[in-house]
Amino acid sequence: MTTKPLAFVTGGSRGIGAAIVRRLAKDGFHVIAVARSADKLQQLCQSIQSEGLSAEPLVCDISDGKALAAAIESTIEKHGRLDVLVNNAGITKDGLILRMDDADFDSVIQTNLKSAFVAIRAAARPMMRAKGGRIINIASVAGVAGNAGQANYAASKAGLIGLSKSVAKELAPKNITCNCIAPGFITTDMTNVLNDQVKEAAKALIPLRRFGLPEEIASVVSFLAGPDASYINGQVLCVDGGMLM
Ligand code: NAI
Repeated sequence: MTTKPLAFVTGGSRGIGAAIVRRLAKDGFHVIAVARSADKLQQLCQSIQSEGLSAEPLVCDISDGKALAAAIESTIEKHGRLDVLVNNAGITKDGLILRMDDADFDSVIQTNLKSAFVAIRAAARPMMRAKGGRIINIASVAGVAGNAGQANYAASKAGLIGLSKSVAKELAPKNITCNCIAPGFITTDMTNVLNDQVKEAAKALIPLRRFGLPEEIASVVSFLAGPDASYINGQVLCVDGGMLM
């Protein structure tokens, strides 16, 4: 049982998710960091704890809806609260539409979109009982503008934006807000796979001429989770160095 406000962050073992876990712990949350395997999660949480802050690893494959709902329910049972839900975990399985098979479409939708629906449904009742909560979904500029070779990914992220706006309308009377962050190119394992030519071409499209850092997404999550964002609801904040405007 924690006396601190509680944040549940999916995909918390590396990249943007790990930066969000660190930042919310620094902000005074007890953070449940969720990922598929324990090693990196444990290292991250131990390093956060060594700074006198509070984070706890939770191993769960979020593409398994039953396991994800059970993880949220057991967290609430253990700690008695859930103040902030961050749906961050996401995957890509890129390919041109003519070559994209059903399995690659379905698995991206399952992990990036369906899991957010399942998590929000599990979190909604306890947040309603607590008369407040913040839901923050990590979408992508691909979900706003589309992207060749990413029909599955862009559809999942556009779906996440529609889901967020619907939840924002539905749960706002209960003092629960729901917003999206749409990152542009951020330096993580997801973008490290791009070759140098693709990276340079991408940078040319970004007015700031560089990729963002995971911490530059985490700071926006911190804002949306904090008291200064109490009247922001149903929005999509593009954090992309000005790429999309
Ligand atoms: P990453 O690949 O570095 O990390 C993804 C995280 O999600 C990892 O912790 C991984 O373990 C977790 N994860 C994936 N599938 C999971 C599953 N089934 N169950 C539990 N955990 C799972 O990715 P990155 O770059 O940190 O991305 C985080 C989010 O930001 C994703 O939703 C991604 O789509 C989004 N994003 C990233 C951008 C970038 O340029 N890196 C740009 C736009 C959006």
